[in-house]
Amino acid sequence: YSTGQQKLCIRYYVGVDVGTASVRAALVTRDGHVTHTAEEPVNIWEPCADHYEQSSEDIWSKCCRTVKRVTQDIDVESVRGIGFDATCSLVALDRHFQPVAVNHTGVRERNVLMWMDHRAAEQASRITATKHRVLQGVGGVMSPEMQPPKLLWLKENLRETCWKEAAHFFDLPDFLSWKATGSLCRSLCTLVCKWTYSPSDGWDDSFWSAIGLEDLMENSYSKIGQQACCPGAPVGRGLTAAAAADLGLIQGTAVGASLIDAHAGGLGLMGADVTGHHLPCEHRPVSSRMALICGTSSCHMAVSTQPLFVPGVWGPYLSAMLPGLWLNEGGQSATGRLVEHVVRGHAAYRQLEEQAERRCVSVYSYLNAHLEGMSADAAQLEQLTARLHVWPDFHGNRSPLADQTARGAVVGLTLSQTLDDLALLYLATIQAIALGTRHIIDAMRAAGHDITTLFLCGGLSKNALFVQTHANTTGDCTHVCITDLECARIGACASSDCSSIQV
Ligand SMILES: *[C@@H]1O[C@H](CO)[C@@H](O)[C@H](O)[C@H]1NC(C)=O
Ligand SMILES: *[C@@H]1O[C@H](CO)[C@@H](O)[C@H](O)[C@H]1NC(C)=O
Repeated sequence: YSTGQQKLCIRYYVGVDVGTASVRAALVTRDGHVTHTAEEPVNIWEPCADHYEQSSEDIWSKCCRTVKRVTQDIDVESVRGIGFDATCSLVALDRHFQPVAVNHTGVRERNVLMWMDHRAAEQASRITATKHRVLQGVGGVMSPEMQPPKLLWLKENLRETCWKEAAHFFDLPDFLSWKATGSLCRSLCTLVCKWTYSPSDGWDDSFWSAIGLEDLMENSYSKIGQQACCPGAPVGRGLTAAAAADLGLIQGTAVGASLIDAHAGGLGLMGADVTGHHLPCEHRPVSSRMALICGTSSCHMAVSTQPLFVPGVWGPYLSAMLPGLWLNEGGQSATGRLVEHVVRGHAAYRQLEEQAERRCVSVYSYLNAHLEGMSADAAQLEQLTARLHVWPDFHGNRSPLADQTARGAVVGLTLSQTLDDLALLYLATIQAIALGTRHIIDAMRAAGHDITTLFLCGGLSKNALFVQTHANTTGDCTHVCITDLECARIGACASSDCSSIQV
C-alpha cells in the first residue's frame, strides 16, 4: 500500500466481535485478508453465584478503542462497512437510552444481564411448564440463557426499579447496531434464536400473556423490537455522526444487522472453502457440516433445508444464520471456562504455572506436552484416564439433556496433589467435553441431520489435544479449524459491495 493512489483503491471492512471477556476488532480487505487485529478486555461483575453482569457503556468504549487501533494506519475513507457480533446478553436502557441497573443494589452502569447468568432458572422452568407452542422451536425447554426468563425475572424481582424504568431491552448485538446507527431495528438472528420471534408471524401475543409478560405487548412491542431485518442487511443510514466520532470512522459508513457471536463463527465455518483438502464434505452441501464454536461455552450449529426438531436442542430457526436454511443449535454451557476452572482449582496449579513460565509456554501447551511424556511408556494417551471420569455439567446441561439443574461430578479422585494428577484431571475434563459433543451429534443425527464433518473455531480449537480428542471421540467426523472474524463480512454485505451472504 505504498503509494497514495493504490491506497485509494483498497476497500476495507471492520468486524467487531464482542466475546464474554473481551472485544476483538479486525480490519479485513475485500478478498477476506485480515490486515490488523486488536483486543481489549471487558469488565464482568459476579456479585453472587450464577449472577453475571456487564456494562453496555464499557463494552461500547472497548469497541471504539479496538476499532481505532485497527484503523490507525489507514485512510478511514476506505472503510466501506462495519459489522458487529456479540454474546446474547440482555441490555436494559431507560427512555433516554441511559443504562438501567439489573440489580437494585448495583450501580446504574451494570445494566447488562449476561448470557451465562442463570438467575432466571426458576422463571425458565415455569415458562417450560406452560408447554406453549413457541417452545417447539427451542427443543421443548426454555433455557435461562434466553431472554424471556430474564425479562420475567426483572419484572418479578425489580418491579419498582429496572422494570418500571426500562424502555428498551436489547440483545447485545442489536444494542451495538443501535448505538452505531440510532436504528431500533433488530437482527432476525437474535430475535429468532433468543426471543421466540417468528420470521413469518412475528411475536406471539399468546406466549407473552401466558408467561405473565403481557405488558411487553404495549405499543406494538416497542420495548423489545418492532422491526426485524436479516443479518448483514444495512441498518439505518449507517454510522451516526456521534458513533462515527466515537469509532474514528466516517459518518454514513454502512453498518450491517448483527449476529450473535456463535452464529458469526458458524457463518464463517459453514462458508469455509475446503477445495483441495480432500475432506468428505468437499462436494457435499453445507448441511453436512457441523460448526463447533468453542469459547467460554460451546455451540454446535447445523443447518438443514427442512425444519428438524431435535429434543433438547435449540431451533429449528429459519434464516437466523443463513438465509432460507433452518438452524439447530446445540451447546455446552461451560467448556473453556470448565477447563480453566478445573486446572486453576487444582493444588498443583502454582507448580504448573512456574514450570510453564520457565519454558515460556502456556499452561495448556505445557500440560499437553506433559501428557505426551506420561503416555510414552503407557500404550495410549487416552488410556491414562481409564480410572478417572468427569461429568462436565458444572454449569448445567444445555443440550441434549436441557437440564440447567444438572451439576458436575468427578469419579476416581485420589489424595495425590502432583502435577501428574492435575494433567490427568485436565485430560479427563477434555474427554468429557468431547463426549458431550458426541452426545449432541448423536441426538442431531437421530432427528435427521446428516453431519459428516466437524469444523472448529474459537479459543479451545487452538488446543491440539482438544481437537484430537474430538476427532477420536466423534469417530467418523473429520475436523478442520479456522478462525472466526466473520462479522467483517456482515459489514461488507451492508455496504452493498457484495450483494448477499455467499456460501
Ligand atoms: C443484587 O446483588 C446482591 C449481591 O451483590 C445479591 O445479594 C442480591 O440478591 C441481588 N438482588 C437481587 C434482586 O437479585
Ligand atoms: C487418538 O487416537 C489415536 C489412535 O487410536 C491414539 O494413538 C491417540 O493417542 C488418541 N489421541 C487422543 C488425544 O486421544
